[in-house]
Amino acid sequence: MSRITVIPGPSSQLLALRISRYLKSDVVPIEFKTFPDGERYIRLKEENINNHAVVVQSIVPPNPDRSIIELCFILKTLKEFGVEKITAVIPYFAYARQDKRFMPGEAVSGRIVCDIIQNAGAGEVVTVDIHNKRILENFKILTKDVSAVPLIAEYLNKFDLNDPLIISPDEGAKERAKNLAGFMDAEYVIFSKFRDKYTGEIEIKMKEINVNNRDAVIIDDIISTGGTMVSAIEIAKSQNANRIYAACTHAILVGDSRFRIFNAGANEIIGTDTVPSDVSFVSVAPAIAEALK
Ligand code: R5P
Repeated sequence: MSRITVIPGPSSQLLALRISRYLKSDVVPIEFKTFPDGERYIRLKEENINNHAVVVQSIVPPNPDRSIIELCFILKTLKEFGVEKITAVIPYFAYARQDKRFMPGEAVSGRIVCDIIQNAGAGEVVTVDIHNKRILENFKILTKDVSAVPLIAEYLNKFDLNDPLIISPDEGAKERAKNLAGFMDAEYVIFSKFRDKYTGEIEIKMKEINVNNRDAVIIDDIISTGGTMVSAIEIAKSQNANRIYAACTHAILVGDSRFRIFNAGANEIIGTDTVPSDVSFVSVAPAIAEALK
């Protein structure tokens, strides 16, 4: 069996370390900094890498483009070192929402990002709950998408929830809600969401749900501006939900989204370490390590 060296990218340092502990693998740390003129600098602290290198690097805010460049610098360097197998673990794969040209003239950025990563030297790609699995079809290399849902369920199951209702805020999160409900032995319901493609404003259609005095878990893949969560919370709240948990895999939480989500009535925001933050209560390390075995 090939021996693994884990390389922690700047945006996923702790998650990389957690994965390496599950794999009992070597770790080669990197040095990174920004030059006064804004250029990035990357150095692998050792050149002695095993024949299978696993680079862990989410593409995250506030500078997703910088994450991509850092990832490419690492991949290309490993390639130049002659490493046989290079796996890019990209827990949060930004740009996955732009999987097609919604309006004339748009760059299909999701596809372009795949090309860049593959050309930089990735031989295999692992993602976690990628927004749209079709994006992975742009790669001509092996890809795997890992689900964080069983781990989120394990975390939620610790809270002794009262007859929880699992809510999907839109059709896109339907499978996720259904799976979560399965792991929690709970009921689930799906809302319908509309997004204005010019302003980005969203609207969720009011729906009668049986949530009176029950706890509710709203599950999505991403919480970005919080607009989707806030609308779903308002509907659950207006129908007398008891405790409300806003759960997701990738808690991007831009601007004042935290405030608005709590202010709308959420008791807790739950995210994973695909995007490191103070709500990363769930680690996806065991699921990624399993996929790499
Ligand atoms: C979109 O379809 C995604 O699944 C999420 O619902 C969306 O990205 C959340 O974005 P926001 O927090 O800005 O509403």
